[in-house]
Amino acid sequence: MWHLTTTRTSYVVGLDQGGRLVQVYWGQRLAPQDVQQLPRTAGPIVPPYGLPLEVEEQLPVDGGLRWGPASLQVTFPGGVRSLEPVLVGERIEQEKDAARLDLTMADVRFPLEVVLHYRVREASEVIERWVTLRHTDPEGETFEISRADAGSWLIPPMADYRYSVASGGYYAEGQVRRGIVPEGEYTLSSRTGITGHHSNPWTMIDDGTATEGRGEVWSVALAWSGSWRLTTQRRHQNRVAVSGGFGHEGLTLPLAPGGELTTPSILGLHSAEGFGGVSRAWHAHARTSVLPHPDEIRPVVYNSWEAVGFDLNQDQQTALARQAAELGAELFVIDDGWFSTRTHDRAGLGDWWPNPARFPNGLAPFAREVHRLGMAFGIWVEPEAVNPDSDLYRTNPHWVLHHPDRQRDELRSQLVLNFAREDVRMWALGWLNALVADGEIDFLKWDMNRAFTQAGWPEDGEGQNRLWIEHTRGVYHVIDRLRARHPRLRIESCAGGGGRLDYGILERTDQVWTSDDTVAHYRQSIQHGFSQLYPACVMSAWVTDQPYSTDPQRNQYAYHVAMAGALGIGGDLNAWNDRQREQARENIAVYKAVRVLVQQGEQYRLGGQPGESLSAIAYVDNEDVAVFVYRPRVELRPHAPSVLLAGLDPDAVYTDLDRPGFAVSGRFLMTAGVPVHDRLPSGDWSSTLIRLRRTG
Ligand code: GLA
Repeated sequence: MWHLTTTRTSYVVGLDQGGRLVQVYWGQRLAPQDVQQLPRTAGPIVPPYGLPLEVEEQLPVDGGLRWGPASLQVTFPGGVRSLEPVLVGERIEQEKDAARLDLTMADVRFPLEVVLHYRVREASEVIERWVTLRHTDPEGETFEISRADAGSWLIPPMADYRYSVASGGYYAEGQVRRGIVPEGEYTLSSRTGITGHHSNPWTMIDDGTATEGRGEVWSVALAWSGSWRLTTQRRHQNRVAVSGGFGHEGLTLPLAPGGELTTPSILGLHSAEGFGGVSRAWHAHARTSVLPHPDEIRPVVYNSWEAVGFDLNQDQQTALARQAAELGAELFVIDDGWFSTRTHDRAGLGDWWPNPARFPNGLAPFAREVHRLGMAFGIWVEPEAVNPDSDLYRTNPHWVLHHPDRQRDELRSQLVLNFAREDVRMWALGWLNALVADGEIDFLKWDMNRAFTQAGWPEDGEGQNRLWIEHTRGVYHVIDRLRARHPRLRIESCAGGGGRLDYGILERTDQVWTSDDTVAHYRQSIQHGFSQLYPACVMSAWVTDQPYSTDPQRNQYAYHVAMAGALGIGGDLNAWNDRQREQARENIAVYKAVRVLVQQGEQYRLGGQPGESLSAIAYVDNEDVAVFVYRPRVELRPHAPSVLLAGLDPDAVYTDLDRPGFAVSGRFLMTAGVPVHDRLPSGDWSSTLIRLRRTG
C-alpha cells in the first residue's frame, strides 16, 4: 500500500487480491499504523452477474470483467482491445516542497506502459494525479487511444451522494447546482476546444448534509483548458467514482512506436469543513502551488470596452487614461478595436498591428503617456482566432481548423487558428513578442471567442484528432514562452467572459475575466460559483455603466460586489457626473485599503442567496476582517438583524474601524453576529462594508 498524506488528508492506494490497483482510502488523515488495518476488498462479488467494482480502481481500463465507463481505452494492432495491465514498478521521489510517487503498470502482452503519477505538496491539500502512456517498442505499430483520463477517484461509501457543480453559459457562468448523484453516469464536459462556459471542470461530492461550514466534501478538478470530460458514475452497489481527463468522446489519439502521451493533471481535495472549507483549501492551493505571482497585489484596472466598444482612438483613450489615473486606477487596458481594420467584429482579427488611423505613431507613445500617468499599460489580444476578412486569412487560409469539402462555419465572423501547428505558434510568438516589446506593454488580456467547429487538420493526415489536445498545448507553449521572455508581463485569461477558467490556465496567467455580465446582482451568483474553486485575487470584477449607475445607492452596491474580487472600472468616464466620479474615487481608495485582505485573506461565504436575498462574504486574516453585506431588495419578511461571522479567534477582541464604540469578542461575532440592521441603508440595493480589526 502507498499512503499519501497532506496536512489533513490521507489517500491510500493498494493492490487488491486480484492484483488490481485500487483506492483503499481517501479522507481525513490517518496514523500510519491505522492505515495497515484498512480492508483492501470491495466485498463479495456474486457470480455470474454481480459486477466487480472497478469503481475502486485507480484507472479502470476498457478490458476484463469491467463494464463501467473506462478511464483508459486503447486499441492495439489488429483491433485488439481489452487491456490487461499489471504493476511492474514503483518510484518515490522527493521534489522541492513535494513528494511524488510513480506506479508503472504494463500490459501483459503489448508494449504499453501506463504510469500513474501522484504528487503531494507540503503547502497544499491537493492530491495531484496524472498519467503517462508509453509505447515501449520503437519498432512496433501505432496504438490508438480513445480515452486517457488522468485518474479515477473513489468516493467513500455513504448512504447517499450529492453532487455540486458549476454550470451555466455565456453571461451566466458558474451557477452552482446541487443534486443527488443519479444511478448511471453523469458527465460534464466541454466539446468546444476551450474550458467552456457551460460547466467548469470540477465536481464536489458530499452525502447530502454538508453545509458551508460543516461536513465532509470530496472534490475533483481538472487542470486543463481545452475539451474535457468528467464522469461521475453511481453503481447499483451504491458506490460512486469520478473519472476525468482531456478530450471528449469520439477522439482517437495515436500513440506512435516509442512515443509517449502525458495527460494533464486531475486534482483531488477533501475537506471535513464543508463547502467553505473545501473552497478555502482550493484557494490556498492556487496561492501556494499554482499562480505565477501569488503574492502580488492585483492592480485596479480601467478598461473602456463596455463604455466605447470598437469606437476608440488615441485621443479618446488618452482622455480616459487621464481620468482613470485621477480616480486611482493603476492599470489602463485598451480592449478590442486598436488594430488593423478592426473597427467592428467582422474584420481585422489576425492582423496585429496598430490601426494607423487610430494610433498614427503606434502604441508606444500612448504607452508612455499611460506610464507617465503612473499606470501600467495593457492591451487586448485574441491570438487564436481570425476574421476571414483579414490579410492573415487571405494569405494562410489553411491555418484555421477546417475539413476539406466542408464549410467553415463562422461564429462572431471568426474561425479558429490551429495552434497545434508549429508555424502558427511561431507566428503568434513572433508578433506577440514584438507587440509587447515595441508597445511597452505590461499586461495582456488574452481572449478566445470561438468554440471549435469543423475541427480538422487535413495536412496532418490521420493524426489530426490530436489537434484538440495540441491546440491547448500550443496556447500554453506560446504563453509560457512569452512570459519567459517578458518576465514582467502579466496576463488575464478571457474567453468571451469566463470561458477559460481552470487550474491549467491559472499556472500561466494572473487573473481571469469572470464574465461579460457585469450587472451587479447577476454577477454575484457568477462570483459565488467562481469562489467555489478559485481565489478572489484572480477574479476580475469591473463596475460598468448600467441604467442604474446614476443611482448612488445602486451604484454603491455594484462597487461592493466588484470589490469582493480584483476591482476594475469599465464605465465611460467622459459621461460620468461629479457624483459618480467621487464615488469611484472613494471606492477605489477603500478598496486599496482592504484589498490585501480580499486578495490574500481567507474567504468565508456567510450565507444567503447571492444576488437574490441578504447575503454576505468575509475576508479574514490574523488581524483584519472585511465583511461585505448585500441586500438586493427589501424583503417582505424582515431579515435577521445580524450576520454571523466565521473564521475568527473566539477569544480575541475585534473593533469596528468605522464605529470604534463597537468592540466585541470573536465569539460574539460568530454566535450573536455583527449587527447589520443599522449598518445597511434602507431600501433596495442596500450594501455595506464592515471592517473590523483585532484589538485585543
Ligand atoms: C469578449 C470579451 C469582452 C471583450 C470583447 C471584445 O466578449 O469577453 O470582455 O474583450 O470580447 O471583442
